[in-house]
Amino acid sequence: MKVSKAIFPVAGLGTRFLPATKAQPKEMLPIVDKPLIQYAVEEAYAAGVREMIFVTGRHKRPIEDHFDMTFELEVALEQAAKHDLLDVVRSVKPDDMECIYVRQAQALGLGHAVLCGQRLVGNDPFAVLLADDLMIGEPPVLAQMAEAFREWRASILAVQEVPAEHTRRYGIVAGTPVNDRMIDVQRIVEKPAPEVAPSRLGVAGRYILTPGVFHEIANQPRGVGGEIQLTDGIAGLLRREKVFAYRYEGKRYDCGSKEGFLQANVELALAHPQLGAGFRDYLKTLAL
Ligand code: G1P
Repeated sequence: MKVSKAIFPVAGLGTRFLPATKAQPKEMLPIVDKPLIQYAVEEAYAAGVREMIFVTGRHKRPIEDHFDMTFELEVALEQAAKHDLLDVVRSVKPDDMECIYVRQAQALGLGHAVLCGQRLVGNDPFAVLLADDLMIGEPPVLAQMAEAFREWRASILAVQEVPAEHTRRYGIVAGTPVNDRMIDVQRIVEKPAPEVAPSRLGVAGRYILTPGVFHEIANQPRGVGGEIQLTDGIAGLLRREKVFAYRYEGKRYDCGSKEGFLQANVELALAHPQLGAGFRDYLKTLAL
């Protein structure tokens, strides 16, 4: 029961970050010195995933280029004996990692994006990582979930407590706690209003799913926003299999919003081994 494949839905238009995303994918926006998508890929790799499946769309070439070899750059760095930078460039795609790209021709929703990866995933359990959600944890959040998956052998959704007024932003789960981190999920609803939300446990953008979910997604009617929702597929799966929610240890930055994106940049800059101390001194001079 090893999770060796992950789907990264990256076909979204990124309209919330216009004009920055007019000609560049939002997943390539950097947090300090690394594009968002690289954080998600590194998290998957750290959890043992080696097959990275990107569900892309038009204008997403820079993602493919980023995880490809950059021959001219490597030659130039080698000739200049800039070995540290060469390591940085080469470590983006370790040799034992495979990147596969599949196109989502129409933006029909997150469930539809995941369905685009079905043929590549086949009959194996797999992870889904939404790069907008930058997760910082030790061990990394997906590794925590992979560990739980080995024990429980069922689908696992990362969850966190969210404010009541934010239930409309998340898939919300309700169920029975089985220990201090795991919840046996009985219900999941996409973006409910606070008055009807079954709890305040919101799904963060990390999932480990069994392949049965594909059939369920394919058989759901359009959901919230007229989209094919992953949440609705998971609701279908619940009727046939156990699904657990996992309260992860770590911090989530909602980099799909400008506030979250800025917070991530400031906090990761402060934690950066080379930049941190100087940046902290600089912030103090602002005397806000
Ligand atoms: C998606 C999912 C939602 C989940 C959220 C996490 O929503 O549909 O269930 O809680 O990601 O970030 P989106 O943020 O794409 O609207």
